[in-house]
Amino acid sequence: MLNRTDARARTLADLPPVNSDSLLKLIALAEADPRPDKIDVGVGVFRDAAGNTPILKVMKEAEQRLVDTQVTKAYLGSAGDKRFAELLRPILLGPHAGDERVAGLQTPGGCGALRLGFELIATANPSARVFLGTPSWPNHAPIIQSVRLGIEEYPYYERGQGIIRFEDMIAALERGEPGDVALLHGCCHNPTGADLSEDQWREVVRVVADRGLLPLIDIAYQGFGRGLDEDAFGVRLMLDTCDEAIVAQSCDKNFSVYRDRVGSLWVKTGSTGATATAMAHVFQRAREMWSMPPDHGAAAVHIILDDAELRARWLVELTAMRDRINSVRQRIAAADPRLTFIGRQFGMFSMLPLTKEQVLKLREDHGIYMADSGRFNVVGLSDEQIDRFTAGVVGALDA
Ligand SMILES: Cc1ncc(COP(=O)(O)O)c(C=O)c1O
Repeated sequence: MLNRTDARARTLADLPPVNSDSLLKLIALAEADPRPDKIDVGVGVFRDAAGNTPILKVMKEAEQRLVDTQVTKAYLGSAGDKRFAELLRPILLGPHAGDERVAGLQTPGGCGALRLGFELIATANPSARVFLGTPSWPNHAPIIQSVRLGIEEYPYYERGQGIIRFEDMIAALERGEPGDVALLHGCCHNPTGADLSEDQWREVVRVVADRGLLPLIDIAYQGFGRGLDEDAFGVRLMLDTCDEAIVAQSCDKNFSVYRDRVGSLWVKTGSTGATATAMAHVFQRAREMWSMPPDHGAAAVHIILDDAELRARWLVELTAMRDRINSVRQRIAAADPRLTFIGRQFGMFSMLPLTKEQVLKLREDHGIYMADSGRFNVVGLSDEQIDRFTAGVVGALDA
């Protein structure tokens, strides 16, 4: 805030430079590379065998129906499309769908849900610390910092061996105090691809419950790992055991509507009354930030999920995306014994054990663009690019 006693009023021209998101920088770098055979495995969108990110056929049809049948674009309110949330409920919550202590609302994508979830936490408990796994998705820390919550890192992944540092993770979570937050990835861990096993989830849930931590599960890729129910295992187990939990969900990947910003936030407390109060705060925070979420994408998802035939077709297209992810993983894993871990992982991302220098050299010599950390999008590769990519990576590992 401007200090009235300042000799000189500050202006917008006094703003310090911003160190912009490394991922956005990488996307811009890849776009600017004139080499026609460049390979961009930095950006996090699904690509098909030909290297395109198509609109799902079922989505095209739902959008057409939406255009043909929509009679108004009047405001929907801070909750967005309520039927959208109702239809999503059983897909995400499974056996907990009937639990009235769990409430949800539409948000602008998974990022909107994360921000809103952390806003709620900061409102309830501004001194909560958020336990954040390392490495994590680059946007997690900035979102947490934007609501001024403290961050405690917990080790998640051993890059050299491609395995989860599970004992270290548990030891770190054991140091949490009641009211602290455990941020967990629901499935298809971004950036590592290394998901918790069912037994590991059980252990994490035990620690979260024993220590009185509030779990916030970020689930942005449901259906991209093993299947819709399998990928929601951790979310549902947490709801089985914990009185309070928050889930930030995204439809942007599994309906392939990235730019339409489709997501939802779910809040569970110990009673329906406390959930209603928490949701009143959620609506208030949403109203302050974006007032109401964009309608189009969620309205189209609503149409798909509300129609048995369209829903069945979505499941077929979702399965095809998952199958491609897993088959590209197998091809990369078969290329070299040092890459076999990629075949055991899930989702769009994995992290290669490359140094920053090796990553830069791949960029310069081969036009292969991945994050400095070695994180890459497995399905950023078209079928035709896979061999060239693995040859480049194996060369870098040998060097
Ligand atoms: C782990 C994770 N959470 C949340 C999101 C947010 O997804 P969106 O805001 O695009 O729906 C992403 C996006 O890549 C992600 O990787």
